[in-house]
Amino acid sequence: MPTRAWFPTYIYCEPLQKSGLARLNSDLAAECRQLREFDTAGRKWSAKNYPGGYTSYASMNELHRFSSAFADLEKKLTRHVRAFAKALSMDLRGRQIFMTDCWVNIMPPTAAHSLHLHPLSFISGTYYVATPKGCPGLKFEDPRLDRFMAAPPKLPDTPEQDRAHIVYPAEAGNVILFESWLRHEVPANRVEEERISISFNFNWS
Ligand code: NI
Repeated sequence: MPTRAWFPTYIYCEPLQKSGLARLNSDLAAECRQLREFDTAGRKWSAKNYPGGYTSYASMNELHRFSSAFADLEKKLTRHVRAFAKALSMDLRGRQIFMTDCWVNIMPPTAAHSLHLHPLSFISGTYYVATPKGCPGLKFEDPRLDRFMAAPPKLPDTPEQDRAHIVYPAEAGNVILFESWLRHEVPANRVEEERISISFNFNWS
């Protein structure tokens, strides 16, 4: 083959653990909903910045420091982040990796989350707690998209890995990890039930 691929973008997707996911997720869902009840500041912020939905992103974003359920989740996620960093050939120089922020997102019908990055971290991700059938996935954008300027559009049968976007379905119990600079969004939720996820950032030092 005269043409070969270089500079890939990696995305990680794995179940959080081998068993006990249903129980864990129903406990986490209850805790997420309790948090929404309790977090007046977060509900206010969400009304302005996350229309229709609730996120603790701006109000309670260090949940792993205050809740044993989230601290336990941090422990489990750290193993996945380590595996992902290894797959990325990252030399962590014997330093620690740790969760800096962790927040809840509850998306009722119509709530969406437009394109964004996760600054001040190196690996970010989402854990899915409740994903009603038909709820939106996580849509990633080719990080080179702004350089394509004069490139012709892609053919309809372009292989998935060569397209400008990829959507990972949201599946309760799965962890999705990506490098924090990779832009992504969650299209609007069009189903009746709430979609619940927990997003997080990791850093190393
Ligand atoms: Ni995000």
